[in-house]
Amino acid sequence: MERDAGSRALPGVWSTADVERLAAERLPPDVWDYVAGGSGDEVTLAANRAAFDRVAVVPRALVDVSTCDTGCDLFGVESALPLAVAPMAYQRLIHAGGERAAATAAAAAGVPYIVSTLSSEPIDVVAGVGGTTWFQLYWLRDREVVADLLRRAEDAGCGAVVLTVDVPVLGRRLRDEHNGFALPPGVRPVNIDGDVGDALPGDSAIARHTRAVFDPSLSWRDLAWIRARTRLPLVVKGILDAEDAVRAVDLGVDGVVVSNHGGRQLDGAIPSVTALPDVVAAVGGRCPVLLDSGVRSGVDILRALALGATAVLIGRPVLWGLAAGGERGVTAVLDLLRDELETAMRLAGCPDVASARRLGSSVWPAERHRPG
Ligand code: FNR
Ligand code: LAC
Repeated sequence: MERDAGSRALPGVWSTADVERLAAERLPPDVWDYVAGGSGDEVTLAANRAAFDRVAVVPRALVDVSTCDTGCDLFGVESALPLAVAPMAYQRLIHAGGERAAATAAAAAGVPYIVSTLSSEPIDVVAGVGGTTWFQLYWLRDREVVADLLRRAEDAGCGAVVLTVDVPVLGRRLRDEHNGFALPPGVRPVNIDGDVGDALPGDSAIARHTRAVFDPSLSWRDLAWIRARTRLPLVVKGILDAEDAVRAVDLGVDGVVVSNHGGRQLDGAIPSVTALPDVVAAVGGRCPVLLDSGVRSGVDILRALALGATAVLIGRPVLWGLAAGGERGVTAVLDLLRDELETAMRLAGCPDVASARRLGSSVWPAERHRPG
């Protein structure tokens, strides 16, 4: 049930925008830029939000919403909300508690947490906090390392593998290049025994590192290789084309995430929420379709559900919470999203997630016509 804003884990925040402001105040400028930044001219980064703001939901009236169930099944586990925490690298950059703090807050909120291949804490330590943990896999040049990561994820009790397919190479992060961004001592991708390297003027150490270890040859044939090495549900993250989604389902994947990596990969890529309806229609219910990139509120989650998403991934807002208050800050963000979603569902006449997915929706005209 909604709590007053003052009783939240982070007093004085009423929206994720408030948490964003706290994070911007607390993080070193170059770390803030790594988190906030998109690729290129950040056109897609901005378009993600503009596209969400143009999704109009058609609420239903005269529905008893004295109870409101925000829960849903995600790949065989019950989640308290139709959301999971998106995989995000190097979270000890943001707060000393790192991935463990964020995963602990996700477990307390009853939602899955996705640990990145580039996590700054070991997979088993993160999965050990006791919630539902999924493992996000990057396709690396060293196949032995990939096979070992899949084994370790399974041994650690992870509940799914999320293969990210939109990073054959890292998008051009101009802020990081301007900053000569590199990881501080003590923050590294501990699960792949990599050292990201030192700062160089005008270059991003993270871009150098991903060029060295990521394999751009990833293609459809490799799904069979991965499928043969894990019995866990296999989700493909970074799909924007409906035909790609159908091909993935035909090849036996268990879910897709419609994502443009938060505008951090191809600048100029379609906003995820704009791509969503065609993917949902093409997949035709054969597997869950999740969405990320630009989700900032419970209303955005309702918008995504109304467009057919099974659930969403929450990215940057979780890092804002981590920066603002560690585990407590992430709890505050997840509490906010839960309260906002519950209110939005009640106002839309939705007593449960299934009814939210039956809502009508449309897209505001590009220019709102003002009456003459
Ligand atoms: C990411 N993202 C990401 N995705 C992934 O599959 N593996 C990763 O390691 C990372 N790392 C990462 C770091 C940071 C700082 C950010 C902001 C994002 C992408 C992430 O999972 C998700 O797709 C986007 O964050 C969604 O966009 P919004 O909603 O955060 O804007
Ligand atoms: C990023 C990569 C690491 O978006 O996923 O920074």
